[in-house]
Amino acid sequence: MSAAHKILVVYYSRSGTTQRIAELLASELGADIEAIREPGEHAARRGARGYVRSLLDALRHRDVRVMPPIHDLSAYDAVVVGTPVWASHASAPAVAWLKAQHAHIRHLALFCTLGGRGSQPALDQMAKAVGKTPLAVCAVTAHDLRRRIDGTKRQGFGQKIRHRLAKLRQTEWIE
Ligand SMILES: Cc1cc2nc3c(=O)[nH]c(=O)nc-3n(C[C@H](O)[C@H](O)[C@H](O)COP(=O)(O)O)c2cc1C
Repeated sequence: MSAAHKILVVYYSRSGTTQRIAELLASELGADIEAIREPGEHAARRGARGYVRSLLDALRHRDVRVMPPIHDLSAYDAVVVGTPVWASHASAPAVAWLKAQHAHIRHLALFCTLGGRGSQPALDQMAKAVGKTPLAVCAVTAHDLRRRIDGTKRQGFGQKIRHRLAKLRQTEWIE
């Protein structure tokens, strides 16, 4: 039997939804997990002012500062990155993190959480920041959460990641 793939789930979350999905996903995948963190006053995204700042950061494609990861990304077969959707963009901290870490990511999977609109441009923006085609993508809307179908989506996403990694490993053995 082959050794299990090492997967790291990384997420940015302003109000807890993406964090919750990331934690469930990590537990289902047997993956390690870490949050994208902003230093000092940059972390102030709470309340109405924080909302507006987040909106402007996303719309203006601002390069925000983020802390380096705690885990060694090069030790993982795949890094799964999650973000909330902000104005049909990925959150500015998630984009900044992906741009800074792209060289250390072997295989990538992406997910986002959102009210209901703008998942595709947000996921495209994240893939572009890394310069890689993701193994799998997943968008979890508020409607999915209300209807409790987020679990089905998450599990399909997790299975696709595992399946694609297994196929890639086979190819690597053959070559
Ligand atoms: C600044 C800002 C902009 C947002 N823009 C969108 C949007 O364009 N489309 C959408 O469906 N939801 C939008 N939302 C809602 C969030 O994407 C959604 O609530 C998400 O699940 C929050 O994740 P979090 O709790 O991990 O921060 C926005 C939220 C914020 C704070």
